[in-house]
Amino acid sequence: MHRVLKWGGFAISFYGWNRIDLFADAWKAAGFRMVGHIVFRKSYSSSSRFFRYEHESAYLLAKGNVTPPAKPIPDVIDMLYSGNKLHPTQKPVAALLPLVDTFCPAGGLVLDPFAGSGSSLVAAQHLGRDWLGMELDAEHAGTATRRLAWHAAKKIAA
Ligand SMILES: C[S@@+](CC[C@H](N)C(=O)[O-])C[C@H]1O[C@@H](n2cnc3c(N)ncnc32)[C@H](O)[C@@H]1O
Repeated sequence: MHRVLKWGGFAISFYGWNRIDLFADAWKAAGFRMVGHIVFRKSYSSSSRFFRYEHESAYLLAKGNVTPPAKPIPDVIDMLYSGNKLHPTQKPVAALLPLVDTFCPAGGLVLDPFAGSGSSLVAAQHLGRDWLGMELDAEHAGTATRRLAWHAAKKIAA
């Protein structure tokens, strides 16, 4: 991710809270600076043990000297249940739209190397950014391809 990102660009990486040491070591070793942290507030628990786990989190990572956004967005974003109809861990496009809009400039490209059903790519396409997705699983790759074509035809994000 760091190698292919433009200087002055941003990356957003979701992570598992119980593996933060591994993620942070890897981000820093690659050359990223951690410049923000995002909490996605869910209206449901994905699991329950010591807590009902009702949030996801991601770091905003920077390559080189980045320019802060002219209009910063809140670092807590509501994440409605996607229904996981297209992928077992499908992210709702609505939660990704403000991030793409803020951290990928007009004319920029969104790369998602773990694209799944293509939610981040749908957000990019909806906002007129270029996009590039990679997905190991052929079935998920097919889902993302069909979804992007459908959204391109309908011009809606969901
Ligand atoms: C958490 S899911 C992404 C879900 C996606 N955000 C969505 O909304 O549908 C991660 C995806 O990464 C894929 N994946 C895992 N290892 C990969 C690899 N080495 N290269 C490409 N894709 C990979 C998995 O098949 C899985 O679909």
